[in-house]
Amino acid sequence: MDTKSELQRTMDALVQAGKGLLAADESGPTIAKRFEHIGVPSSEETRRAWRSLLLSTPGLGEFISGVILYEETLGQRADDGTPLPEMAARQGIVPGIKVDKGKLALAHAPGDEITEGLDGLAKRLAGYRQQGARFAKWRAVYNVSDTLPGRLAIAANADVLARYAAICQEAGVVPIVEPEVLMDGAHTMARCAEVSEAVLHEVFHALHRHAVVLEHMLLKPSMVLPGKACGRTAAAEVAMHTVQVLRRTVPAAVPGVFFLSGGQTPSEATANLDAMNRLAPLPWRLSFSYGRALQEPALLAWRGEAGNAALAQRALLQRSRLNGMACLGQYQAALEDATG
Ligand code: 13P
Repeated sequence: MDTKSELQRTMDALVQAGKGLLAADESGPTIAKRFEHIGVPSSEETRRAWRSLLLSTPGLGEFISGVILYEETLGQRADDGTPLPEMAARQGIVPGIKVDKGKLALAHAPGDEITEGLDGLAKRLAGYRQQGARFAKWRAVYNVSDTLPGRLAIAANADVLARYAAICQEAGVVPIVEPEVLMDGAHTMARCAEVSEAVLHEVFHALHRHAVVLEHMLLKPSMVLPGKACGRTAAAEVAMHTVQVLRRTVPAAVPGVFFLSGGQTPSEATANLDAMNRLAPLPWRLSFSYGRALQEPALLAWRGEAGNAALAQRALLQRSRLNGMACLGQYQAALEDATG
């Protein structure tokens, strides 16, 4: 199959009504932090146990079209010997891979960060493809203050994201472009909107310069929210501001916008996505690519005990189902029905 039709096939499998992505690509230190919260040490075996539990959840493919894996998981197997990417694929869930190598301080720009991992990327992608990965993810991070992120960080991260996306498409791998404007801090929602608009504008300008085919990529942005220290905002307001920023910056040719949860609680992340989808008509499919907001309730149910696996899987399936409803703008109505 030629590269173009392969990319299109992956896009068709990923972008489906009422479905989103499960982000299970936490790096070593991040998964250790999540496990520490439930008193589980992070080892190759506990990570394998957790991630095979997630991927073998019965019925998960009804709401989840793709899973983002960490490099280690691509090579791991379930108890019965099935490679974990194959276990996902059997449920109709497309395996993907986080390919960035994390962030570091951006030189000459105090407080700003840049993501690394471009060196040797084409070669690494060829290997990941052989292990079953059909799409990739790269995360750029923007810290927010009155002065951050600076122009240099906005320009440099956009350029790196676009180079990554172009390399992926050339390799027949669908790129997920993830510019995350962090929730940390006490900034206002207006400041987050301003930063998000500048970031996305620059990202799409760079994607154009690097000739990235917009029809064959997905955007994974953060929502427009006030800083964590500022408390919470009503879903309708988050939805209005987020969609306004997207309308100003994201071309209609992009088939899907799959949000990260970024530290929102599971129910906030679901309610906010639902509120956005009730602002239809929208030019793109708005969906989820949640890590914490999908995994948290399941982690709490599991606590590292094999005997809790079924309970944890039910918690994951339930959150996935609710987010599937939010993709269709049907979550709030269902909640109201349930509470009479
Ligand atoms: P969260 O939904 O927990 O933000 O994770 C999504 C992700 O992939 C971050 O890179």
